Amino acid sequence: MTHAAVQFGTPLYVYDADVLSSRFAQLKRLFGQHFGVSYAVKANPNIELLRRMLPHVATFDVSSYKEVERALKAGCPADKITFSGPAKRDAEVRAAIAQGVGELVLESLAEAKSADFWAGEMGVRQSVLIRINPATGPRHFGVSFSGRASQFGIDEEVLDEAIDAVQSLKNLKLIGFHIYSGTNSLNPAAIAENFAIFIQLFRRAAVHADIRPEKLVFGSGFGLTYGGTEGPLDINAVAELALPLIDDLKSDPRFADAHCVLEMGRWLIGPAGWLLTGVVGEKHSRGVDMRLCDAGFNNHLAACGMMGTIIRRNWHMMNVSNPEGAEQKYTLVGPLCTTIDVLATDIMLPEVRVGDVIAIENSGAYGLTASPSRFISHPEPAEIVLAGNEMIDATESALNHWTDVDTTGRLRMAEIALKG
Ligand SMILES: Cc1ncc(COP(=O)(O)O)c(C=O)c1O
Repeated sequence: MTHAAVQFGTPLYVYDADVLSSRFAQLKRLFGQHFGVSYAVKANPNIELLRRMLPHVATFDVSSYKEVERALKAGCPADKITFSGPAKRDAEVRAAIAQGVGELVLESLAEAKSADFWAGEMGVRQSVLIRINPATGPRHFGVSFSGRASQFGIDEEVLDEAIDAVQSLKNLKLIGFHIYSGTNSLNPAAIAENFAIFIQLFRRAAVHADIRPEKLVFGSGFGLTYGGTEGPLDINAVAELALPLIDDLKSDPRFADAHCVLEMGRWLIGPAGWLLTGVVGEKHSRGVDMRLCDAGFNNHLAACGMMGTIIRRNWHMMNVSNPEGAEQKYTLVGPLCTTIDVLATDIMLPEVRVGDVIAIENSGAYGLTASPSRFISHPEPAEIVLAGNEMIDATESALNHWTDVDTTGRLRMAEIALKG
């Protein structure tokens, strides 16, 4: 990692292609007979990563037209793209249909009407899935989208009328259903329980629509440990509990040919990524030993506790420059002019010196893509993919990169770290 920091400078996102492959391999081994995989591009839309995921996925799920373009650029055929997301613009719906996306995931009736109109104009029949918003929220999930008012999907309470309305639109073909109702669960029983809710709704919806669904999308909710002492999600246990539910569903002739899809983002790509931040200074303030880092919430909003968490906790971090150093307690702050720019509070790390490089784990998902990188105009991190011995520059944006500043100081710091 320190080699990467020397070559590319910090802050730097590093993604390990082997970790990504092993995540797909685990899914295939456990769930491959029952589920295809849909990768939610929003988790990390880096095109080099999408390109590497392509052979492993049934679909890329996108949530904006720009994400459609990204998927296409990565080599994904349009018919392997599903397009979900609230507040799709009319122009996006039109452009997605014109591209020939596999399915539009309808989140409202207004969207269905817009899709019907544009499909009619183009003389095509667009396949659609209805996204259902269950009345029952999942238990033990980091964030739940269901069981309350929501911009996502069609409320279970009005599902029958919505199905009738969609089926009355001649230019749309209802081929199945989609539910994504919660994220970041580490509890296998809760995930299986949530799937049971999905299945009950899928059954009801398919009977009402009188269709044999071609596709059913299960928003997986598979979570990651972002700090604390909880162990990782036991996906063997998830498989043990959830797969019999799918077998049972498939034993019903109506569902025998339904292609079931596990949709996820963070579990796949999160562990493959690290954010490397360089320590640019130190400060002792009122008894607190601070280290000033070159990345803050401008580069990693989630690690600073500002994305979907109520209480900020320290993510797992390493001092990659000085792993054998004596442990001490630090507060790590970023470069932004606000008191909330804190990466870690009272974290125990091997001695952190100016010039050291700190790696923040589980940063592959919702890192750069979910961070306000324009704030205070610091250079955006580069992004690299480690593939065997190769370091592939996968940087897409050079926002705020220094043009007339001598950056050798930065490199020298990293070199010092490397020697350390
Ligand atoms: C429709 C949809 N599918 C999948 C995901 C991926 O969720 P996660 O990264 O928690 O697996 C999201 C995340 O917001 C989503 O909105």
